[in-house]
Amino acid sequence: MEMLRRMILEKGRIIGDDILKTDSFLNHQIDPVLMDAIGQAFYHRFCDHGITKILTVEASGIAVAGATARLFGVPYIFAKKQNACNLDNEIYTSEIYSFTKKTTCTIRVAKEYLQSQDRVLVLDDFLANGQALLGLIEICKKAGATVLGCGIVIEKAFQGGAKKVEEKGIEVFSLVRIGRFENAKPVFL
Ligand code: G4P
Repeated sequence: MEMLRRMILEKGRIIGDDILKTDSFLNHQIDPVLMDAIGQAFYHRFCDHGITKILTVEASGIAVAGATARLFGVPYIFAKKQNACNLDNEIYTSEIYSFTKKTTCTIRVAKEYLQSQDRVLVLDDFLANGQALLGLIEICKKAGATVLGCGIVIEKAFQGGAKKVEEKGIEVFSLVRIGRFENAKPVFL
C-alpha cells in the first residue's frame, strides 16, 4: 500500500504521544481513490475465504467496509453505538472500552443481519488496543458466526491490539503497521 504510506507521511499529523490524525483522507474527508485501493487490498487477501458478511463499527469503519463489500458482492454491517428506537430487543451487544477516548460504549448489531451460517470479515480503519475488534468478534461469537479474519487499514503495532486478536486464533491483516513515532513521523514496520 504505497499510496497509503505516502498519504500518511504527507498528510497525517501526530497528536501527543500516540495519535495519528488522518482526517484529510480517512476519518473525516475521505479520498475515494485510496478507499478503492483499500477495498482491493482486502479483497485480494480474503477473496478465497468464502466471506458472506463484512462487519465494522461506526463511524470511520463504514467507508472501508463499503469499498470492500462492493468487491466481495456481500452486504456489510456496521455495529451501532447509539441505542435507537428502531433497534428493538433482538440485538447482540458488546461493551468496548476505548483507551484513546477513556470511555466505554455499547455496540449493537440486529440479530436478523448476523446469523450462525455467516462467514465474517471484520474491518476497521485503526487498530490501537484492539477493543473495537474484540467487541465485534464477541458479537460474531454470540451470533454463532465464524470470523475468518480481520482487516485493518492502519495498525499502531506498539499498542498491542493485534496480539490480543491473534491469541484468539484470528488473523489480523494490516495494510500498514506503525512501529513507533519518531521526530513527529510514523516509522513503518
Ligand atoms: P481500539 O479499538 O483498537 O482499542 O482503539 P481505541 O479504543 O483506543 O480507539 C478508539 C477510537 O479511536 C476508535 O475510533 C479508533 O479507530 C480511534 N483511534 C485510535 N487510535 C487512533 C489514531 O491514532 N488515529 C485516529 N485517527 N483514530 C484512532 P472509534 O471510536 O471507532 O470512532 P470513529 O473514529 O470510527 O468514529
